[in-house]
Amino acid sequence: MFQLSTVAVFALLPAFCLGAPAASATIASTSPFATSLWPAPQAITGNLTVGFGAAHIHDPSVILGPDGYYYSFSTHDGIAIGRSGTKGSLSGYWEHVGSVLPGKKSIISNSGSTDPWAPDVTLVNGVYYCYYAVSQFGSQNSAIGLATSATLLPGSWTDHGLVLGPSGPNAPFPLSITNAIDPALFIDPKTGVKYLSYGSFWGDIWQYEISGDGLHNTSFGNYGLLAPQWMSFDPVGAQAEEGSYQSYSAETGYYYQWYSHGICCGYNPNALPAPGME
Ligand SMILES: *[C@@H]1O[C@H](CO)[C@@H](O)[C@H](O)[C@H]1NC(C)=O
Repeated sequence: MFQLSTVAVFALLPAFCLGAPAASATIASTSPFATSLWPAPQAITGNLTVGFGAAHIHDPSVILGPDGYYYSFSTHDGIAIGRSGTKGSLSGYWEHVGSVLPGKKSIISNSGSTDPWAPDVTLVNGVYYCYYAVSQFGSQNSAIGLATSATLLPGSWTDHGLVLGPSGPNAPFPLSITNAIDPALFIDPKTGVKYLSYGSFWGDIWQYEISGDGLHNTSFGNYGLLAPQWMSFDPVGAQAEEGSYQSYSAETGYYYQWYSHGICCGYNPNALPAPGME
């Protein structure tokens, strides 16, 4: 993420919030906002002396590994890999076990390649896909890369480099008005179609439809605006957005767009906004 301390700040917005679902007969009766579907997170334990990658992580993506342990992937250390100490549990003691990127840097030729950001790890047909971002704080010159692995473990990853970007004024729309950071892969469980969302701190959250396998024979075709800043229902006004993810709930029949919203860093815990104005 462009702002590194927004890991726990997510806003929730159903994909169809501008109108009632058309096919209401196929939608379950559960409210899309039912908190039972999205229980509050619990504190975890882990190694805090190691620096980044164990219990102290930015921009995390967590996935269950083939060995039964949960793994985290996060910003810094060439995409840090963490592992929970207890099989099948997120609350085991988290350790830093290594890095995704060989040499702890991306093969993408772009400023920021020595400290990639905001990984997103997804299992696709037996292969783990790790999308990541290469950028620098305050820069729109950003790119999205991809590494793959069969096991999630350090040393098993191949960096395929650039898949989308770089963004910037001379890039094709919408990369010209956005920032190619914070990638997230979403595979529609109903259609199997793959989508990559990204952005942005620079013109909202956008999404591309991916044709092909996401690797070499890939094109980023149809695109769309997922989350305009003006739609965020923030009583203070439009705010920067970043770190998006999508999910689908069969229980509600809704697609969900999750993202960080607002400014981080340098915030004063003794002068918090009034309730409802956060
Ligand atoms: C925490 O990480 C440090 C650095 O890798 C290591 O030396 C130490 O043994 C770890 N602590 C525990 C309790 O595992």
